Amino acid sequence: PTEEREKQYYEETARDYDAVIEWLFRSFGENEDDVRRRMVDLLELQQHHRVLETGAGTCRDSVAIASRLGDGGEFYVQDLSPSMLSIGRERMREAGFLDGSRSPVRFFVGNAGNLPFDDGFFDAVYHFGGLNLFTDKRRALAEMARVVRLDGKVVVGDEGMAPWQRESEYGQILMTSNKLYAHTPPLDDLPEGARDVCVRWMIGSAFYVIDFRVGEGAPRVDLDLPILGKRGGTHRTRYFGVLEGVSPEAKRMAYEAAEASGLSWHDWVDRAVRAAASADLGDRERRVLSPRSRTARET
Ligand SMILES: C[S@@+](CC[C@H](N)C(=O)[O-])C[C@H]1O[C@@H](n2cnc3c(N)ncnc32)[C@H](O)[C@@H]1O
Repeated sequence: PTEEREKQYYEETARDYDAVIEWLFRSFGENEDDVRRRMVDLLELQQHHRVLETGAGTCRDSVAIASRLGDGGEFYVQDLSPSMLSIGRERMREAGFLDGSRSPVRFFVGNAGNLPFDDGFFDAVYHFGGLNLFTDKRRALAEMARVVRLDGKVVVGDEGMAPWQRESEYGQILMTSNKLYAHTPPLDDLPEGARDVCVRWMIGSAFYVIDFRVGEGAPRVDLDLPILGKRGGTHRTRYFGVLEGVSPEAKRMAYEAAEASGLSWHDWVDRAVRAAASADLGDRERRVLSPRSRTARET
């Protein structure tokens, strides 16, 4: 439904879009080509790269992206609105990117939340504008990351006042004039595989640009590496091994005893619990302290 509304809105306003964007950059005193070049820089493109731009609209960034590609390069340009894209195609044609002398450019109408490509098909994906109003930003961001190869870049941006300007008169004026400026970068919606995530605020600090590298799943961490210091234990024991609380008196005694024994708090408690449990369980459950759980302090 929101997508339908979005599509209809852009279908109806496509003819006026370019004038609005030119006004926008003028209002902020920014050089649009320069700003867009700096955003496209974040894609870290090489001539042979295969790139996707979603929500390309009238292709105001597409020209900068296409100009980075050369031998072996391929550029896929997508938007929800056929009218926006047909103006975009004309811009690309006028800029000389469609006469067959450059790397191929393919235009297609579609939804950024459902990309018809295999995993890792692209070296980079770019999306600027429109993201704030997506019904499912998380899904769209996941799709963008899914179609990018490992270590490839995703760059997305839209309106969003920088945190340090939200309470200022400057920020308040803009957010009152246009509610889109009240949006915040959708960092909570980034996929788990996002790495080296960077947010910057550009164009009068009123637009966020997020760029990240695509990794696989959650970041790597050794949950069983003994933690240095007197608490001891590991990330795993601290998360999965939490037990019932004890009386304040027992707690004080445990810390004192750990100190006296030279063990970390973790190792002392682990040993005490195992000893008490073994005594009650008999031989059934006798287990010794595993060497992995001993801290460096003890050895
Ligand atoms: C603000 S314009 C940005 C156009 C262009 N990227 C630019 O920077 O000038 C937003 C564009 O996103 C497109 N759009 C909106 N929802 C979309 C979706 N779910 N998938 C793909 N494009 C979408 C709209 O049709 C519109 O062309």
